[in-house]
Amino acid sequence: MKLQAILCLLLQLIFELSSCTHVRVIPGSTLELPCFSFQTEFNGAAITWTFNGNVLSAQSTGSARVKKDGLYLSISPVTAANEGEYLCLLKENNMEVIRTYNITVDAMIGYTIKVIEGSTLHLPCHFPPYSQVRANALWFKGMGVGKKTRLNPGDDSAGDNDRVELLYPLDHDQTIIIRDTIMEDAGIYDCESAEGEKLSTVYIIVEVAPTPVPPSCDGFITAWEPCQDENSRTGEPMLQESMAEFSMKLFSYLRESNPSSNLLFSPISISGALSHLLLGARGATRRAIETAVCVPHDFHCVHFQMKKLREKLASSLKMASQIYYNPQMNLSESFINQSIQFYEAEPTRLLETSAESTQMINSWVANKTNNNIKHLVDSVSPSTQMILLNAVSFSGQWKVKFDQKPKKGLFTKLDGDLVNVPLLYHQKYKAVMTYVIELKAQVARFALTGDSSLYILLPRSNTVASLQQVEGKMTDIAVRQMIEQMKTRSSQHVEVTLPQIKLDFQPDMNILIKKLGLSSLFEGADLCGLYSEEKVVLDDARHRAFLALTEQGVEAGAVTTMSFSRSFPSFSAMRPFIMLLWSDQANVPLFIGRVTDP
Ligand SMILES: *[C@@H]1O[C@H](CO)[C@@H](O)[C@H](O)[C@H]1NC(C)=O
Ligand SMILES: *[C@@H]1O[C@H](CO)[C@@H](O)[C@H](O)[C@H]1NC(C)=O
Ligand SMILES: *[C@@H]1O[C@H](CO)[C@@H](O)[C@H](O)[C@H]1NC(C)=O
Ligand SMILES: *[C@@H]1O[C@H](CO)[C@@H](O)[C@H](O)[C@H]1NC(C)=O
Repeated sequence: MKLQAILCLLLQLIFELSSCTHVRVIPGSTLELPCFSFQTEFNGAAITWTFNGNVLSAQSTGSARVKKDGLYLSISPVTAANEGEYLCLLKENNMEVIRTYNITVDAMIGYTIKVIEGSTLHLPCHFPPYSQVRANALWFKGMGVGKKTRLNPGDDSAGDNDRVELLYPLDHDQTIIIRDTIMEDAGIYDCESAEGEKLSTVYIIVEVAPTPVPPSCDGFITAWEPCQDENSRTGEPMLQESMAEFSMKLFSYLRESNPSSNLLFSPISISGALSHLLLGARGATRRAIETAVCVPHDFHCVHFQMKKLREKLASSLKMASQIYYNPQMNLSESFINQSIQFYEAEPTRLLETSAESTQMINSWVANKTNNNIKHLVDSVSPSTQMILLNAVSFSGQWKVKFDQKPKKGLFTKLDGDLVNVPLLYHQKYKAVMTYVIELKAQVARFALTGDSSLYILLPRSNTVASLQQVEGKMTDIAVRQMIEQMKTRSSQHVEVTLPQIKLDFQPDMNILIKKLGLSSLFEGADLCGLYSEEKVVLDDARHRAFLALTEQGVEAGAVTTMSFSRSFPSFSAMRPFIMLLWSDQANVPLFIGRVTDP
């Protein structure tokens, strides 16, 4: 039997020999050379490939192509012209990695055999029919250019070789078998007579056994990395910057979808919920959340810093987190521990019925928002695996009180309409007020107890255009600069008139999640740090915020929830559809209909 080696296969025969890898391939095959064999992401690293000293690029003609920004080189089909030295040079910051491949193209191969990992492999070799067999043939495995190792069938002294067996000693048929093939068995094997005459060359490709889809979290159920430097001076400003950037990003998304209506949200609550989720997120989900909340990748101290921030704010803003989960779910113990450690949240089981669970969640929300938000969820679906909640409540009194006499005044709306509203009024209020050129707004700062302030930015006129002009300029940097600028100013006596307001706003969190680049949460989140048995998907996210300006001060609160369920594919026929009632037995249609108005 002679199998012609005309094939185009994906093969990766790599024999590691210190820094240079020798690869022997057959013409017509496809060769993929990775720049490095370890699994790391080199973001922004510059990779250069050369062939016999000439630089290769993605546009290079010929069969060698640089792929994925240089992460690997693909040669397809391999021809004799591809023989030579390939060099991959990776440069990142102060580091340089060089990888060399020496490629030999060998047309002398008799057999190409493809096997599945774990199976038994037959390597054929025959003495010529009429020759005399005085000694068994010798088998070698090629280890790169000019190097090979002897296979000694049945020789137990040589470690692994008990998997190798010569089937018919001293027979014309010198076929050997290799049992329980492993990936490393791939390569080129030579069979030679004792006199050194080549009898056969076999090229072995080992393919990964098709295994049932392994649990997605295998090997990933690790805790969040410890914060190595809790006293680092950079951790706190890093989180402050992230928060400002995240907050203004949210504001810009929200004002886009609500260009002229009332608007209110609590970035710190949304960020608190996402950070808590981040604690259990791994892989791409973790990266996506890190990007969404604007924290640098692998900022291990993010949870520690969130805890510090929560403690720092405690005199004015109370933040609470909670996780309710399906009793059938096995939450990872390290996640539970870290959840308590960083978010003071001990995951709690959902109750038997939807009504009980709904009530439990809504009372938690009411309790954590000082009864200002009494209702957030309507029901808890039986498929719900986990609900993550974050609630904040804020209470601050004016440092300078307003007049106690009830007053009313006219508020001019964007469309010019006037509404009569109750006012907060003071003839000589001590406040910081200035025109901030960068924002094109008149800004006033009202000091509150608990070391916080209310800033009010007043556009130049009551038009949408001038409102949007101010909002458009409110980047995180501009806002932080404004705060700094206002802090250096001294207060003056100002006649202040503010409307008494009571805002209650529920932005569409599902859209917001998508705008934050977290759409993948709806398709399947990698929450391997939290739960490893199956993928869960985000099925609903909500945010609700309220704020009241009263004679006493500012009362505000917000809740953020994210509810996850098992990743069943869903089908919802909650819109017009056509139906067929079919007899499977007779294979004929029985009824046909259409529903546009159920
Ligand atoms: C690659 O192989 C060629 C010829 O077989 C040899 O001359 C050269 O030194 C090898 N290069 C390396 C880096 O081993
Ligand atoms: C949770 O773990 C227990 C014990 O290890 C196991 O019997 C059970 O099947 C697991 N639950 C799920 C949903 O896989
Ligand atoms: C979690 O905390 C408990 C109690 O402090 C401890 O016994 C356990 O070892 C911890 N588990 C992990 C995985 O850290
Ligand atoms: C919240 O619950 C705690 C403990 O049950 C209780 O002490 C507190 O008064 C509650 N707060 C509100 C606003 O209901």
